[in-house]
Amino acid sequence: MSTIKEVARRARVSVGTVSHFLTGVAVVSPKRRDRILAAIRGLNYHPNDIARSLKLSRSHMLGMVIADITNPFFSLLVRGAEDAAVKQNYLLLTFNTDDRLEREMQVLSVLRKRRVDGILLVVAPARGKTSHVEELISLGTPVVCLDRLPRGIRVDSVTVDNVKAGRGCVDHLLERGHRRIAIITGSLLLQTARDRLQGYKDALRHGGIALDPRLICEGDFRIESGYQLGQMLLALPDRPTALFVSNGLMSIGALKAISQSGLRCPQDIALAAFDDLFLSEVIQPSLTSVVQPAYEIGYRGAEMLMARIEAQKNGSGGAVSSRPERLRLVTELKIQESTASHLAGPVSPPLSD
Ligand code: RIB
Repeated sequence: MSTIKEVARRARVSVGTVSHFLTGVAVVSPKRRDRILAAIRGLNYHPNDIARSLKLSRSHMLGMVIADITNPFFSLLVRGAEDAAVKQNYLLLTFNTDDRLEREMQVLSVLRKRRVDGILLVVAPARGKTSHVEELISLGTPVVCLDRLPRGIRVDSVTVDNVKAGRGCVDHLLERGHRRIAIITGSLLLQTARDRLQGYKDALRHGGIALDPRLICEGDFRIESGYQLGQMLLALPDRPTALFVSNGLMSIGALKAISQSGLRCPQDIALAAFDDLFLSEVIQPSLTSVVQPAYEIGYRGAEMLMARIEAQKNGSGGAVSSRPERLRLVTELKIQESTASHLAGPVSPPLSD
């Protein structure tokens, strides 16, 4: 069994530096950090033992990192996680990243220093692998990713099938007779946005419709981008007859653009969205939307995390990297007024797989 002294020797740093790195109580230079990580891996040093020895007692606190609590999707996610945590006497510390990577890195560092027992993470957009998340996991902090999967990292997760749900939503628009269907995506640095776009492409390909790049617009999951891109799409000379908007907040912006354009929904332009905003039945027209089980994603994610923490504490947790648990929950397509009418003109027979 290798020791912290062997790690320090191989990394050519002091034991104190290794300890500072592992607990996060002091900043370690990137070069030293890389040497320490290489030594831990080379010596097969068991970070879980480190975490256990350094944790004089359990904090009974979970960290939760989301994009923005003012987005109803994340509010429900947090509520589900907290309801599960309270049942097992855990506290939940929630942080917003505003989908900024540097903020995510800062928050994860704080949570590590505060020695939370585990972290629920909705990752921010990032190019390539997020080494700070991988490092956190390799040092023994239990992490469960919710909603979005970080690229190239084996981690416990609770998500939905965004490709299948996106395709189902666009199939519905095709069945309503639409052929010029536009999509407003979230940041394509996020797996949820990429997968919803893939579902859109799969549906059009299956329906024999060629992609028109002018009908594919990248937003940022916020209201304003839905509004701006909605205006742009509606101003096209051969404008779309239907919009597939990749999240609830952007659909509000798109509805504002439709209203200001003088067009009527669904008579002139149909709209289907991902995420069911609690107001989707109140606003006119009521919104056809893909309902994500946000509360359940949070609840089940917290249960998964606490089970991982227990397993780690009693030594049966095993390295997550060897066998991450991946739970996929089911979405529902709620058809309402915003796609009610059939487009006049040729309607192809119902699509079937
Ligand atoms: O509204 C925020 C979006 O980002 C949601 O659709 C959720 O799935 C997350 O990926």
